[in-house]
Amino acid sequence: MFFLNTLKGEKSAVPPLWMMRQAGRYLPGYRALRAQHKGFLSLCFASKDATTVTLEPIDLFQMDAAIVFADILTLPLAFGQDVTFIEGKGPVLGSLPKPSSSFDMQCLDPIMETLRLTRGRLSPEKALIGFAGSPWTVLSYMVEGGSSKSFEAIKAFVYGSPLFDSWMSNLIQGTIAYLWAQIRAGADVVMLFDSWAAQIPHDLVKSCCIDPHVAIVKGLRDKAPHIPIITFPRHLSLKSLKPFVDQVKPTALAVGNSYSPQDYLDDLSNDVILQTGPDPVVLKLGGDLLKRHVDAIKTTFRDRPYIMNLAHGVLPKTPVNHVRDFVSWVRS
Ligand code: CP3
Repeated sequence: MFFLNTLKGEKSAVPPLWMMRQAGRYLPGYRALRAQHKGFLSLCFASKDATTVTLEPIDLFQMDAAIVFADILTLPLAFGQDVTFIEGKGPVLGSLPKPSSSFDMQCLDPIMETLRLTRGRLSPEKALIGFAGSPWTVLSYMVEGGSSKSFEAIKAFVYGSPLFDSWMSNLIQGTIAYLWAQIRAGADVVMLFDSWAAQIPHDLVKSCCIDPHVAIVKGLRDKAPHIPIITFPRHLSLKSLKPFVDQVKPTALAVGNSYSPQDYLDDLSNDVILQTGPDPVVLKLGGDLLKRHVDAIKTTFRDRPYIMNLAHGVLPKTPVNHVRDFVSWVRS
């Protein structure tokens, strides 16, 4: 499998390609199916429709990997916390349960069914990616009760609450269990999204980002040593990324564009495969600007195995033609 060969360190003439949020609101098929469901989570838990949505970007653009259609905020449901997505507002979570409350993975079975159905329909040449949020990012939604700008509540929780250690360990164990279930259901690769890693104060980078990743990667490798793990500590400083890579030892590191592609190459261990790509705004603008960004990344990484993606997820209203251009320029 092309995608897995790159993750094993094989260099190829053109890189494997997929996009974060490749199944989403910019796609007409997604919008049509989404309109038939009351809420976003209802679509996530409707395995047949979630499978259709997962496969749409593969059928349209022949991406080298599919990512299961789900969300990082499904895990709090297994801890008994209410999660709803409100149109125009985003996620809203109920109050934080007691850390000792039970963990019910069964409520996430429909997501495993999506993985099984998708793996059954996906060509054997294409990889299926399972995913979860990293503990800091998921806990920030659980404690803040939704998206946050200031991250005040989560920081106060980490610095001041006696419940922090129990929740961190719950999330580490829950994430291992969730990703392991996804692997058993057919995921060929798993990815951890630490979307808000840049909000972690420097004195907490070890306890809130590096150590939990070390524990999750170790827990998964004990169970499934052959499954590659992609980590995405988004916008973490290069100074923190170095110890992150050295200690976590992910198979691949997804990076955004806080630094130039060359800076990432110069500063990070040679053993890690990088996943990177243009800014989603550049994809939305398209044209020559996009081509220049694609060419610059291809030139920088020409001697290395790497995965082409975006710096972050595809934005709503991105023209589908720009995605077609992106794919053809990456592969030309
Ligand atoms: O195509 C894919 O990438 C697969 C599915 C996927 C979704 N969310 C679907 C989704 C993945 C991998 C995610 C990850 C996710 N979810 C992250 C980490 C990646 C990142 O973007 O940083 C985060 C932080 C979330 C949490 C989340 N989900 C928020 C804050 C929101 C609301 C804001 C928004 O974009 O609407 C979501 C909703 C969501 N997740 C949508 C999709 C397609 C849009 C929902 C809709 O159609 O109404």
